Amino acid sequence: MSAGNIEEIIKKHLDKTLKETYFPSLGKLYKGKVRDNYSKGEQRVIIATDRISSFDRVISTIPFKGQMLNQISAFWFEKTKGIVRNHFIESPDPNVSVVTQCETIPFEIIVRAYLTGSMWRDYKKENSMSGISIPKGMKKNQRFDEIILTPSTKAASGHDIYLPKEEIIKKGMVDKDVYEQMEEAAINLFEFGQEHCKKNGLIMVDTKYEMGLKDGELMVIDEIHTQDSSRFWLADSYDELFAKEEEPEILDKEIFRGWLMTTYPEIFPNIKPEQEIPPIADDIKIELAKRYMKSYQIIVGMEFKPEVSNVKERIINNLKKAGYL
Ligand SMILES: Nc1ncnc2c1ncn2[C@@H]1O[C@H](COP(=O)(O)OP(=O)(O)OP(=O)(O)O)[C@@H](O)[C@H]1O
Ligand SMILES: [Mg+2]
Repeated sequence: MSAGNIEEIIKKHLDKTLKETYFPSLGKLYKGKVRDNYSKGEQRVIIATDRISSFDRVISTIPFKGQMLNQISAFWFEKTKGIVRNHFIESPDPNVSVVTQCETIPFEIIVRAYLTGSMWRDYKKENSMSGISIPKGMKKNQRFDEIILTPSTKAASGHDIYLPKEEIIKKGMVDKDVYEQMEEAAINLFEFGQEHCKKNGLIMVDTKYEMGLKDGELMVIDEIHTQDSSRFWLADSYDELFAKEEEPEILDKEIFRGWLMTTYPEIFPNIKPEQEIPPIADDIKIELAKRYMKSYQIIVGMEFKPEVSNVKERIINNLKKAGYL
């Protein structure tokens, strides 16, 4: 499919995006910022909508985003199930995953291979990070000698707060044994992801893992190695751009944060919970859809074939066919 063609399809889909769903018979609805989660007993049906969140608010929708995200996550869950158990059961529709309901662990594990994003912003301010040892004098987007793991909780503001291992165990959030399993799982998953991406010319910069317990056993839940939970840069141009102190070519949603901050500096990054979302230009939505598609293709190794269709109708049909509705 030609680039022009894809752009036309994305444009046609701008007003056909999946904003929300409501299928009460699937179970109790928990509306995340991006995904609609329905839980019933042991089963959780996660519908990835096209919503995009930034600065802890739902800002807009991006054509085909839900489908790409769900398919990427399903891809990784299949690929990594031998490394650590995960919640994935099946994907009856491109936007939907059926997973095992788990008891969630109240912190996530962030893994970083490069100094960037919020960690760079904090590092620049203080030239150090409380509790985490990072060598002095590092540059923005520089690679760490060793990957850095930070268990973190989400504060009310949505900003991640570092939570040291000792505190997690002292507070009884999980047993020491489970915590150590989590660390090992995160390192192994991240290394697997990095290797896979590297072969295809992509750098997996950082990511976060959410985990849970099922009958006492550790499970990876939520989503893994998607553009919403990870940063991806193109490997080819990284060295040259880094040497020139320029930004790498980004294939995740970080460019959206940048766009929001330059377009509306009076609103972002400190948007208030009740503050109205300003208009989002079609151009940035199209650009994001294209970048999400590019990383989909690189990660999954298949061309993404967007189709202008009624997503909600397709989901209903597929859920009926698979016996969930
Ligand atoms: N297997 C599972 N068992 C229990 N809870 C799960 C499972 N998988 C995912 N979850 C939870 O479902 C929710 C998904 O919500 P979602 O990620 O869409 O929005 P959010 O976490 O509120 O915001 P953000 O956009 O910042 O991620 C998360 O709270 C996640 O922890
Ligand atoms: Mg989430």
